[in-house]
Amino acid sequence: MPADLTQVPAQVDFLVIGSGLAGLTYALHTAQHGSTLMLTKKQRTESNTNYAQGGIASVSAENDTPAQHALDTMEAGAGLCHADAVQMLVEEGPERVAELVRRGALFNRDSATGRFELGLEGGHSRNRIVHAADRTGRECERALLEGVKSAPGLHILEHFFVVDLAISAADSSRRCVGAYVLDTHSGQVHLIRARSVLLATGGLGRIYRHTTNPPVATGDGIGMAWRAGVPVANMEFIQFHPTALFHQEGGSFLISEAVRGEGGVLRNLGGEAFMPRYHPLADLAPRDVVARAIHAERLSRGEPCVYLHVQHLGEEVLRKRFPTIFARCLAVGINMATDPIPVAPAAHYACGGVPTDLDGRTELPGLYAAGEVACTGVHGANRLASNSLLEALVFGFRAAAHAVSAEAPSITEHASLAGFGSKAAPADEVQARMTALRAMMDDRVGIVRNTADLQTALEAARSELAWASAASNECKPDVDLLELRNAAQAAVLVIRSAIERKESRGLHYSTDFPERDDAQWQHDTVLRP
Ligand code: FAD
Ligand code: SIN
Repeated sequence: MPADLTQVPAQVDFLVIGSGLAGLTYALHTAQHGSTLMLTKKQRTESNTNYAQGGIASVSAENDTPAQHALDTMEAGAGLCHADAVQMLVEEGPERVAELVRRGALFNRDSATGRFELGLEGGHSRNRIVHAADRTGRECERALLEGVKSAPGLHILEHFFVVDLAISAADSSRRCVGAYVLDTHSGQVHLIRARSVLLATGGLGRIYRHTTNPPVATGDGIGMAWRAGVPVANMEFIQFHPTALFHQEGGSFLISEAVRGEGGVLRNLGGEAFMPRYHPLADLAPRDVVARAIHAERLSRGEPCVYLHVQHLGEEVLRKRFPTIFARCLAVGINMATDPIPVAPAAHYACGGVPTDLDGRTELPGLYAAGEVACTGVHGANRLASNSLLEALVFGFRAAAHAVSAEAPSITEHASLAGFGSKAAPADEVQARMTALRAMMDDRVGIVRNTADLQTALEAARSELAWASAASNECKPDVDLLELRNAAQAAVLVIRSAIERKESRGLHYSTDFPERDDAQWQHDTVLRP
């Protein structure tokens, strides 16, 4: 492949969709074995990874063990974690973190011992969160993108939006053979063929109005996998982070759980530290418990938010440990050293996604998935804090190891992409529909659910999906419209899964079925196209 990619290649060995931690981990490995092309819909740094604050859960302390990490992960996952996947995560994780360090990632270390300074987050029984202050994701991306510069077989095309996966034409040899890609500058759609494709498109937080996720997180990978006939699993388990900044200029900025790990305390407007009433671990209870507790406090007291108190930690500690959060709060007029921080839950993470085996393989030959878009089985019904970056590292690496050793297919035929039309997309209507979809998801598919609301939500999401699908066929290729189609598809799948699960477990709580029912429901929710 040419050093400076001036033309879109028709064929590569390994095609990677997404430039977050999963995609980068995979691509840096496959590039040692063949031409690797990474496509990303905005600039290469724009991803959920880039905003990750707290850190990476990884065993390194003397008083910690992989078995203990596995136990905490399974406990948070409320009976749905796959034990083999969790085992792999906790055992292989430390080596993947060591590899990040070898690639140049700088994490906080104890000045006396030189060992990692380890943070604590909800649901962890030990301090085990490796971090770079409160900008861990950005530091990982920086180090890996630096590595891309010296990886001759690896190229990145920015502002290339993947529309759909390309599938072999013959049903008997159904296989992913590449992807259809929109060059957002020229408006041209290209077919890029590949030996194999990695789906690493990240999350879907943007199907909600209040979310910690950046605008790229519109569930595109879920939409394209579903249209390609690939199942999804556990979509009902949307994790709401308890503490997004509640401020009209806050834009759902995250206040890391690590802040509570350092001693931050949640109080209601009456000044009560309410969490001990809800769980013995109080402010460091698992995330689903804390988010539901805040929801209950807001409802019962009629207050829009609760407050995170950290003043007792002192300005020096706060500025050093949480420089990004300190600066952002200050920018909206909140001095963490003197003022409590108004916080409320916001959609944060999709525990479900495209099911994979332990090597990142999906049901569709030729298609791998890793990172937030995948459902590897490690998170179950509720992800343990800071296990997501770790999962992206471990399973991104495992998928690459499998892909490079898999035989190249000899398929030449592929099904063509459904055509686009010649009309301009109605920009205002697309935006209005996306806004309505997101508000509806907040109102009816939030932390506490009921069947009637879910049924109403399903009708609304299906109607948006029908409109966006028809408009996508009639209009010129348009990113906002294609994102609306993917977001509506992802919303439909979240709602359908939530309706299907007639119990409450982990992140899915229904007032119609408030009990956990292991006899009937201790299994994944799998939906098939
Ligand atoms: P991402 O990093 O989201 O990357 C997805 C990529 O796919 C992006 O480059 C995107 O542009 C691209 N893409 C999407 N659709 C298309 C398309 N159609 N065509 C082309 N490209 C496309 N987890 C932790 O473990 N620890 C933390 O401390 C932590 N903090 C977090 C803080 C915040 C604010 C957020 C939002 C998340 C946090 N998480 C954390 C979760 C974690 O960051 C993500 O789950 C993880 O980074 C996902 O990595 P990924 O590679 O799967 O996807
Ligand atoms: C945080 O810093 O609170 C986010 C951690 C995570 O999502 O795992």
